[in-house]
Amino acid sequence: MPKHSITPDDLIRKIKSRNIKIAVVGLGYVGLPLAVEFARNGIAVIGIDINPAKIKGLRAGKSHVQDVPDKDIADIVKNKKLIVTTKFESVKSVQAIIICVPTPLNRVKEPDLSFILHATDGIRKYLTRGQIIILESTTYPGTTEEVILPKLTRKGYRVGEDFFLCFSPERIDPGNQKFPMPVIPKVVGGITPQCVKVATALYGQVFYRVVPVSSSRTAEMAKLLENTFRIVNIGLINELAMIAERLGVDIWEAIDAAKTKPFGFMPFYPGPGVGGHCIGIDPIYLSWKAKRHGFDVRFIELAREINTNMPAYVVRRITEVVSKRLKKDTKKTSVLIVGVTYKRNVADTRESPAIEIIEQLLGKKFQVTYFDKFVPSLRFKHVNLKSKPLTENEIKKHDIAVIVTDHSDIDYGMVIKHSKVVLDTRNVLRSFQSAKVVRL
Ligand SMILES: NC(=O)c1ccc[n+]([C@@H]2O[C@H](COP(=O)([O-])OP(=O)(O)OC[C@H]3O[C@@H](n4cnc5c(N)ncnc54)[C@H](O)[C@@H]3O)[C@@H](O)[C@H]2O)c1
Repeated sequence: MPKHSITPDDLIRKIKSRNIKIAVVGLGYVGLPLAVEFARNGIAVIGIDINPAKIKGLRAGKSHVQDVPDKDIADIVKNKKLIVTTKFESVKSVQAIIICVPTPLNRVKEPDLSFILHATDGIRKYLTRGQIIILESTTYPGTTEEVILPKLTRKGYRVGEDFFLCFSPERIDPGNQKFPMPVIPKVVGGITPQCVKVATALYGQVFYRVVPVSSSRTAEMAKLLENTFRIVNIGLINELAMIAERLGVDIWEAIDAAKTKPFGFMPFYPGPGVGGHCIGIDPIYLSWKAKRHGFDVRFIELAREINTNMPAYVVRRITEVVSKRLKKDTKKTSVLIVGVTYKRNVADTRESPAIEIIEQLLGKKFQVTYFDKFVPSLRFKHVNLKSKPLTENEIKKHDIAVIVTDHSDIDYGMVIKHSKVVLDTRNVLRSFQSAKVVRL
């Protein structure tokens, strides 16, 4: 039986002295800000990513994540608080390893754990006694215990004694300056109580509040609960928006009225659909796992169906507005899409509803142009589009402007002034009293 090289209390003492080194595996939207946060707090970080271009950029002091300024990277790379590499071998020398790799869906829309498996294999090769491994990638309840644990124990090490294993969901909201990473409470669940104790000490170096829970499954479920709650409520409000339109009610006004209730109501807002790497994907991890236990998760499926149909609904509204207000045929209609990222003030177009809206418009022979300062070009099946400048002349060329993403530094007054009509899917034009504006 292997002997401990370090007890949990020893490891915790070491962590609290900050005389440790950690590895962050996967330096994307989640991993890079986390690595920077630890490094800024005086903890030496080794960042591991399989993408050599990202490693090269980071070594040159260039950030590939919008919320992380180049200067922050340059400073911590220069003072060697962050060392980046494509090689897993360096995990040998660290006390803690945090995994932040992608968890997408595969071709048949099921969880794709291949990135987690690859990262775990890389770590297992160099696992040494006294290390803590924490998974942060969003995944279904049971992944840490059923998928990662057996791989690591195969080496003969015992969890909670020779090494520690936890799950801690990442809850960052890219582009949201109001909630920087350390102020968002950090939920953590472990395979054993000792594992949670160590992880709590580790995250306590950076986060203001750590929330320990009784198991890794609970922590995995907490993250999916949060995102399922969002997708279901977004689906609900999107459906209510479509009903309200039929009934001749302004849904936005109804929401504003409803939210004056001081208890028992939380406002959600309709929109052109959901996007990004999280809200549209994470709940599918839960429904997939539930199905394997003979349970049909109807709320998720329904919300998904409604949200997935929102781009088609937006296209229908564009068609209606154009034919009613401008009496024009779609083939001769020119549409200016304003904003194509999945949400405001980020440069991320993954799963963005704007892409689907543009595809459907092109399929219906609309002429489509877009503006988004974060996205210079977009590739579609038969055409590549380039972002056009949002100028008076450009706006005037189009029959309708459609606000799909409500980026904050756009001169919306100018958009209204020079457009024939504007369809606003985000209610960003609420303060403008203009007959040209049609709301979703
Ligand atoms: N982006 C968000 O807003 C957000 C928020 C909360 C949770 N999450 C979750 O966090 C996880 C990571 O998401 P992300 O947005 O940072 O993804 P990302 O694609 O931005 O970054 C992942 C990084 O991991 C690297 N990578 C892939 N396989 C690897 C491997 N085997 N070893 C080392 N590096 C590897 C990739 O090259 C990439 O740089 C996902 O599970 C996601 O659901 C994301």
